[in-house]
Amino acid sequence: MARLLLIVFLGWLVGCGDAPPANEQTDASRKAVTGLKDVAPFPIGGAVSIRKLAGDTALRAIVTTEFSSLTSTNDMKMYSIAAREGQLDFARADSTVAFAEANGMRMFGHALVWHYGLPEYITSKDRAGMEAFLTEYIDTVVTHFRGRVDGWDVVNEVFDTRGGELRATPFYTAMGEDYIELAFRTAHAADPQAKLFINDFGTERDTSKLNALVDLVVRMRQTGVPIHGIGFQWHQQMRDDTAVIRQTLRRAAATGLLLHISELDLIFNTHNDAAGGGVEEISRMTPELLAAQADRYETLARIYRQEVPAPQRYGITFWDFTDRDTWIRGFFDMNDWPTLYDDDLQPKPAYDGFRRGLEER
Ligand code: GLA
Repeated sequence: MARLLLIVFLGWLVGCGDAPPANEQTDASRKAVTGLKDVAPFPIGGAVSIRKLAGDTALRAIVTTEFSSLTSTNDMKMYSIAAREGQLDFARADSTVAFAEANGMRMFGHALVWHYGLPEYITSKDRAGMEAFLTEYIDTVVTHFRGRVDGWDVVNEVFDTRGGELRATPFYTAMGEDYIELAFRTAHAADPQAKLFINDFGTERDTSKLNALVDLVVRMRQTGVPIHGIGFQWHQQMRDDTAVIRQTLRRAAATGLLLHISELDLIFNTHNDAAGGGVEEISRMTPELLAAQADRYETLARIYRQEVPAPQRYGITFWDFTDRDTWIRGFFDMNDWPTLYDDDLQPKPAYDGFRRGLEER
């Protein structure tokens, strides 16, 4: 017995010799458990595809460590749920919501009404047909997720790419501006607790578009349309003017609504917002470029904290969030490195920069 105890004791001693010093161990474990979500004074989100997430342990680790909010990249869009006439498919959306719940994350719904990629049976409807379809679709989808989805992008990209005109989507063509109000009222009736957003891009570099957005939101509030927030996609370019970005948030904050940075990435190269419209001026990363991107991410986090009063901060969500998976490369047909994680899913200087912008006091 004494011999056995001695062996156990010696084993413990040897084990101690292998262990890292106590302080290093503490640092390492602290690093392992504190993500962006733990240092941010508001929700930090990531947009994911549940199929990709299911088969990718490293990606899952990033999501569960870093984010407190989840958006589905494509599986909650109309073109996914209503791809086939007369039949709604919730399979992937349900799995995404279940994943968020299992990991204690807020689920954000994106997007109820968006013109892109729709099947012909939807795009060809007349006014009465479109009204009936939108009412039933939004009611069914929002009811399906009632109490489990915290907020929705009710309408996405209702404005033209540039300027302040409403986009001639199939919804607009059939119903004029009325489809926007119908969408918000129907969503609110289906889930009165859900926060309802209008979401768009380019408003941080196009003042006419920002004016039109703010005007529309103010008009909706005045006429009692249930809208609670504005989403800024923020697919930003490194060259965008941070003074204008700050001004944009300040103006939007004056509406008193929730403000969500809903799809953040930070692009080096130039594009014209159209598919295939990229110009690849930079084709490889240098330490200087990575440092500049880190500074820019830090500044963006700081601007959000400084300009958006705490009760209006719905949070910052990253779109794709790894250079490996970024949509920018495929969509604009150019190489780029717009996210916090590199092609091997390692955090870039951008990650540290953004984190600094969250943590500074
Ligand atoms: C827009 C949409 C997103 C996503 C991105 C890129 O920003 O709002 O849902 O589709 O384009 O793919």
